[in-house]
Amino acid sequence: MARIPDAFIDDLLARTDLVEVIGSRVQLKRQGKEYSARCPFHDERSPSFTVSPVKGFYHCFGCGAHGTAITFLMNYDRLEFLDAVEELAKRLGVEVPRDTHQRNANPDSQDLYGALEAASKFFQKQLASNGRALGYFDSRGVDADTRARFSLGYAPDGFNALRDALGTDARRMKLLERGGLFSKNDRGHVYDKFRDRVMFPIHDRRGRTIAFGGRVLDKENGPKYLNSPETELFHKGRELYGLWQVRQAHNRIERLIVVEGYMDVIALFQNGFDTAVATLGTATTPEHAELLFRNAPDVYFCFDGDRAGRGAAWKAVESVLPRMKDGRQAFFLFLPDGEDPDSLVRAEGRDGFEARLQQATPLSQFFFDSLSGDVNLHTLEGKGRLAERAKPLLAQIPDGAFGDLMKQRLTELTGVGARASAPETHVPAQRARAHGNAQHGSKPSLVRSAITMLLQQPQVALALPPSLHFASLDQPGVGLLVEIIELIHQRPDISTGLILEHFSDRSEAPALTKLATAGAVETTASTPLDARVLDDADRRQQAFLDAIARLDAQALQARIESLQARVASLVDAEKQELRELLSLRLLSKH
Ligand code: UTP
Ligand code: MN
Repeated sequence: MARIPDAFIDDLLARTDLVEVIGSRVQLKRQGKEYSARCPFHDERSPSFTVSPVKGFYHCFGCGAHGTAITFLMNYDRLEFLDAVEELAKRLGVEVPRDTHQRNANPDSQDLYGALEAASKFFQKQLASNGRALGYFDSRGVDADTRARFSLGYAPDGFNALRDALGTDARRMKLLERGGLFSKNDRGHVYDKFRDRVMFPIHDRRGRTIAFGGRVLDKENGPKYLNSPETELFHKGRELYGLWQVRQAHNRIERLIVVEGYMDVIALFQNGFDTAVATLGTATTPEHAELLFRNAPDVYFCFDGDRAGRGAAWKAVESVLPRMKDGRQAFFLFLPDGEDPDSLVRAEGRDGFEARLQQATPLSQFFFDSLSGDVNLHTLEGKGRLAERAKPLLAQIPDGAFGDLMKQRLTELTGVGARASAPETHVPAQRARAHGNAQHGSKPSLVRSAITMLLQQPQVALALPPSLHFASLDQPGVGLLVEIIELIHQRPDISTGLILEHFSDRSEAPALTKLATAGAVETTASTPLDARVLDDADRRQQAFLDAIARLDAQALQARIESLQARVASLVDAEKQELRELLSLRLLSKH
């Protein structure tokens, strides 16, 4: 993927005027060191979109959209990564360097996309001339427009139709095989995986075909749906069927409707709901949840009303809770027995289904109903059990009004409060100073402060010595802190935005974004005097080194304590180490 050297990207972003790039597309208003606007990625009345030229990134407190100038162009102008880089390079009048080795690696995956696209075209062509398959779609009320929009197709009967049409040479064969289009028998003979099935291509976010689903036309012929296996391009838990089509049709998506199957998406579209996506029969993963809320503030999940459906809905709750930032809403629509969105919308029409959506159960209600279904809230024991179940889940909701309200609701129901979120928007530099003498208790927040400081001003890490003693500490976040420091040492020009991007696929990503933006809130709210103090790069540098020094001291102390705990059985070398550590501790306390 990294076809362009990181150093070039770092430099490009460092030299790009982010405010100019965004400001030429969105009307920005200056606010201190930052700029704000109404978010171009979701619908809002008051501005929660901020641009920080210093940190080199933008962030929306409403929908969570954030990134660098590159991400902005990718999302706003809908450019590919390389095109966004080219665009920025052009502005600066520089040439994008291309690594020739990697250039050779690239066409390979390009070819894989190409092969899948060719297969999709082949299936579409087959559909056009197959009366039975066309008749099948007719019988399900799918018209020509809808067929075209979803690139629906037909895989002919027989074992070699696709093979004969496209697998014309060994390389092509290999590509189609990698794309998951063939099966292999015991004797190693390769044949078409999809036979006599109507075909539903699955597109990625950029509209490239990455996989297929195929449905039998007649009931008896094997499993109802066959899907492509997981391939290098297709990971079921990360894709949402139909999202590409939804994004094509809308600049801003008000709400997404999440259903289970291909035909549900298609039938909803055919009946006037053009924002439905499907999880393809799998549980809603955290990646799905992230993807959903990145695209729309309101998400409606449709599930069967039975036990299994409620179980699946609860899985969705678990994936969604950590992403319930303010301004986002999740609803659950439970379907009557034996119905799915396809059958319902065809029976009740657009208005009927819309009425069901309007009556969907809000997340908050489903949450407390599910957790208290089997407890008696008239007893202390029952209240205790509900509180015990709810607290760890509520703790995952990001800080904000929604989280506070959910905790408040738990208190109403049980009399027990889930600890309200700590007001964690401190200015890190001040925090480090304020805790100057604190020994215990503040340990986890010391790591947190250090990470925050790094995100606010990455270059403070460059003053650190190569050995990080604190790395041995057994505390949450230490590993991450070490990783960020190492990243900055490898890429000394890296910006805040790029650090966030580097970690964007990781579970820590939302927390990092929060820490990176915490300062932004403070800065705009602080008095001019505070701002001047904060501007002082030296002070920030000192505060960071200070925090690291205190972490090092904790590591030293921990090692001393572990040696002392078994002082009687220490070998000579360990006794020597203990003596040295003790004198070191003495020194550092001067
Ligand atoms: P359903 O069995 O509910 O099918 O599976 P459906 O969407 O209502 O299909 P129609 O209306 O009979 O055409 C829901 C989803 O689960 C996956 C598919 O993604 C399907 O759309 N599935 C189902 C499979 O992958 N394999 C199967 O054999 C069945
Ligand atoms: Mn169905």
